[in-house]
Formats: sequence, structure tokens, C-alpha cells
Amino acid sequence: MEACREFNFGGQPFSARYFMEHPTLYERIGGDAALRQLTDQFYDLVFNHELISRLFKTDKDLIKEKQRLFLTQFLGGPQLYSEVYGHPMMRARHMPHTITEDDAVAWLQCMASAVESLPLSKELKDELFDRFPRTAFFMVNT
Ligand code: HEM
Repeated sequence: MEACREFNFGGQPFSARYFMEHPTLYERIGGDAALRQLTDQFYDLVFNHELISRLFKTDKDLIKEKQRLFLTQFLGGPQLYSEVYGHPMMRARHMPHTITEDDAVAWLQCMASAVESLPLSKELKDELFDRFPRTAFFMVNT
């Protein structure tokens, strides 16, 4: 039988078998542990940001938790956010907050730094970050 070929693009090694066993982006970035690290980094940056920290008034641990549950399903994992909070309706949930284009850019810069801090290959970081800009600009409501 042919040996399983592995490809390394600078981070974790991949093979056809790897993609069969880890079909979702959620699994490929490292599942729950990776999202905990991502949301920790992200909200530390957001809550200290000179422009967008003004928007975040609830408990930091609670928003981290909500975002982790949401991103789990957003990246193809189990529907954890919906199980607890119902349909995401993310644009509607953001309507009470005044979100400008500059806020979306700042949000994305925080997310880019948080993604960069993960121990993933450049290709996987790019694939992960690319999931956010469309959704972030969709939240602009002012
Ligand atoms: C465009 C820039 C964005 C801004 C300025 C922003 C701002 C906010 C604010 C102010 C809240 C409420 C925080 C609180 O309760 O104190 C919130 C909640 C949330 N945001 Fe965003 N957001 C943005 C984009 C996004 C994106 C792109 C996503 C998903 C990929 C997202 C996911 C969430 C989630 C899951 C919650 C929790 C909703 C809930 O209450 O259940 N946000 N956001």
C-alpha cells in the first residue's frame, strides 16, 4: 500500500487523510482549544482599543464565551451558540450598537492580530482570517 504523503506548508503537516479526518475549518485550526486562545487574545485587544472599547459594556468573560460558541458553529463545528441563545441573527443583535466602517476596520485589525498569534501555518491563518471581513462589514449600521 502507498505510504500516506504529508505536505508541510510552514505549520502543521497536512495529508489527504488529514483533510478526510478534519473536514471543517473548526477542526483544522485545532477546535475548542484554538478558539479559546483566539477569543482570549481578541477581546484583550478589543477591550483596550482606543476606538472600539467604548462599545463593549458587558462582562469580558461573557462576551468571550458567546463569541467562542458562535465561532464554533461559524467555522463548521457543533451549533453551540444556537443551542444556548437561539438563531444567531448577528446583524440584528448588533443593531443596538452604533457600528461605523472605522469600527469594522478596527475590529478586523484586532482579529488579524489574534489570528496571527495562533500556532498555525500561514495558509491556515489566511483561510481563517478570510472568514471575517465580509461578516464584519455586514455589521456596519451607521
Ligand atoms: C464590525 C465590527 C464589530 C463590532 C464593532 C462589534 C461589536 C459588538 C458589540 C458591541 C457587541 C455587544 C457586546 C456586549 O454585550 O457588551 C457584540 C456582540 C457580539 N458580536 Fe460583534 N461586533 C463586530 C463584528 C462581529 C463579527 C464579525 C462577529 C462574528 C464573526 C461578531 C460576533 C459577535 C457575537 C457572537 C456577539 C455576542 C452576541 C450576543 O449577545 O449573543 N461581531 N459585538
